[in-house]
Amino acid sequence: MIILNKLRVANIGMQFGMSHIEGAMAYGAEIAAICDSNEENLKKAGERYGIGREKQFTDYNDILNSDEIDVVTVAVPDQLHKKISCDFLRAGINVLCEKPLALTREDTLEIIKAADESNAKFMVGQICRFTPSFEKAKEIIDSGEIGEIYFIESEYAHDYMKLLKDWRSDPKRHGVIGGGCHAVDLIRWLAGDPVEVFAYGTHKLLPTVTYDDATIAVMKFDENKAGKVFVSTGCKRDYTMRTVIYGTKGTLICDNTSPTMTLFTTDAEGVTKEPKIIDVEVNNHNAAKEFAAFADAIINGKPVLTDAREGAKTVEVCLSIIESSMTGKPCEPNYNF
Ligand SMILES: NC(=O)c1ccc[n+]([C@@H]2O[C@H](COP(=O)([O-])OP(=O)(O)OC[C@H]3O[C@@H](n4cnc5c(N)ncnc54)[C@H](O)[C@@H]3O)[C@@H](O)[C@H]2O)c1
Repeated sequence: MIILNKLRVANIGMQFGMSHIEGAMAYGAEIAAICDSNEENLKKAGERYGIGREKQFTDYNDILNSDEIDVVTVAVPDQLHKKISCDFLRAGINVLCEKPLALTREDTLEIIKAADESNAKFMVGQICRFTPSFEKAKEIIDSGEIGEIYFIESEYAHDYMKLLKDWRSDPKRHGVIGGGCHAVDLIRWLAGDPVEVFAYGTHKLLPTVTYDDATIAVMKFDENKAGKVFVSTGCKRDYTMRTVIYGTKGTLICDNTSPTMTLFTTDAEGVTKEPKIIDVEVNNHNAAKEFAAFADAIINGKPVLTDAREGAKTVEVCLSIIESSMTGKPCEPNYNF
């Protein structure tokens, strides 16, 4: 039985997954188990967070049927998201799984089915929805201050030169889905679902992968609105997710790595005024807020903002972009899940 504010958490994957330990600890949850198939990574995380050997596991099957775990966080290579998430959902344990939900439509469908059939909740960690500048952008858009969006652009530029472990070089783990899913999800959250995408890709920078390392896609939306996403995983610059939202009454410029965002609005005659500079916290991995949102959904029976279908829609747009860049033809995402 879940005791208020004392969720018992198991964390799987002890690299980026350590941010989930910190998120759960910040919430006040109990770390009931940590798991990594690599003993060295497991031991290091145990030492770092003071988690005893009796709570350390190299095989997640050893905690799958535990009745002492309420939530599991999954931060393993993307190719394993489906298997591990489905196993825990079928065991009735709430799952917070890293993005992207999965790398294929078949896998997203299987996770949706497992989530539908489980009495546990599922959340995909689209962390940008908890990034302070993007949360603020959403608040401003929803307030109507910049009017109706007619164009939105977001980019995900991140130099993967040192990040290309085996699983990140898998052609199925194309940069558009692996990292670009952040920008695509952000566009969907702020502006809605594109009905058609058209993309071009180039491959100049990452010699060890077979997929394009830069892709640009334009997007058409239903309501007289357009968008653009740019993904570069070989770029020679600092990480950025610069995002610009153009509305009929104003424009917002923001970035997850900038301490300020810029808001342009208009006067009564529709003339652009001096911009307002808004200070924001730089925290692009706000795991504490992400965990708190999931805990709130579990404890208070609220809907999960990024449930399996929401994660699947983001994957679907990414897959459509990849398909368009390969066929040279526009592609319509299929949101029928
Ligand atoms: N939200 C973000 O901004 C963000 C940032 C980085 C990574 N990620 C996501 O987090 C996930 C993990 O990425 P990473 O950078 O930590 O990868 P990584 O390869 O650095 O680490 C993965 C860890 O999982 C362990 N592992 C692999 N198979 C396992 C298994 N079957 N059981 C238990 N442990 C296993 C590995 O030993 C390793 O310690 C990926 O899905 C990635 O896309 C998200």
